[in-house]
Amino acid sequence: MGEQVRSMVILISGTGSNMQAIARACVEQGWSARVAAVISNRAEAAGLRLAAEMGIATEVVEPRPGAGREAYDQELARRIDRHAPDAVVLAGFMRVLGEAFVGRYQGRLINVHPSLLPAFPGLHTHRRALEAGVKWHGATVHLVSAQVDAGPIVDQAVVAVQDDDTEASLAARVLQQEHRIYAPAVRALLEGRLRLQGRRVRTLATARDAA
Ligand code: GRF
Repeated sequence: MGEQVRSMVILISGTGSNMQAIARACVEQGWSARVAAVISNRAEAAGLRLAAEMGIATEVVEPRPGAGREAYDQELARRIDRHAPDAVVLAGFMRVLGEAFVGRYQGRLINVHPSLLPAFPGLHTHRRALEAGVKWHGATVHLVSAQVDAGPIVDQAVVAVQDDDTEASLAARVLQQEHRIYAPAVRALLEGRLRLQGRRVRTLATARDAA
């Protein structure tokens, strides 16, 4: 019996390089999955053009002035649900999502954060890592929970901080690691190969193990 094709919606706010890495892996590695849409909260997000160039449907859901966070999340969920995705992938998505939204997609909502969580949750992670003088920095892929940047960790990648690193040079090396670890994690989510045990996530090696 042919495998059911899974679908994902990817949310972006800016460059979209993580989205591009995932969409490319999906095609080049022949996942039994597809990117149903790329949705941004910003019309000027450069990643929208990258997605369109790959033939992926793009949508913009902009916050309406004066409307609250809850109203935005509800509209975003309405637009996502039209695609009935098996996974909602946050890729450089720069809005904090409320508890109702996270609850709606719990278990199929995944994010990449540019630090070794639980170190440096929030913004400006590379600058803070340099200021803290850490020798090791990196990226974290995690399932999204109500608490920001604190969901169960799916995978991490470590980056050595060099003595002459600037925020930009460190960010560039972390981004490379994000591109390397995010796609396999999204694939595992789509193929039902993530096993949650408390706060710990085990990734089964192949779809066969998932049976
Ligand atoms: C990445 O470091 C991501 O973790 C952060 O924004 C940076 C740009 O991401 N949230 P992208 O190029 O838009 O995927």
